[in-house]
Amino acid sequence: MTGQSARRVTVVPNGPVLVEGPVELVTDDGVTHTSDRFVVAVCACRRSKRFPFCDTSHRKRVRDDVPQDGK
Ligand code: FES
Repeated sequence: MTGQSARRVTVVPNGPVLVEGPVELVTDDGVTHTSDRFVVAVCACRRSKRFPFCDTSHRKRVRDDVPQDGK
């Protein structure tokens, strides 16, 4: 790289991809999304209601220590 420092991208296992901001992100429909955040969490699971940005929906799981019949 010439005169620029590398931008860090961190893949979170079972979570988002963290990208140092600001970012301009183009989705497959051609729409450009922007964020001025210091670190931007890009959704990798496609469950986010704020896609392409993570809204922590990837965390929602059925707890295996609670009976599923509601008792
Ligand atoms: S990675 Fe967090 S909602 Fe998709």
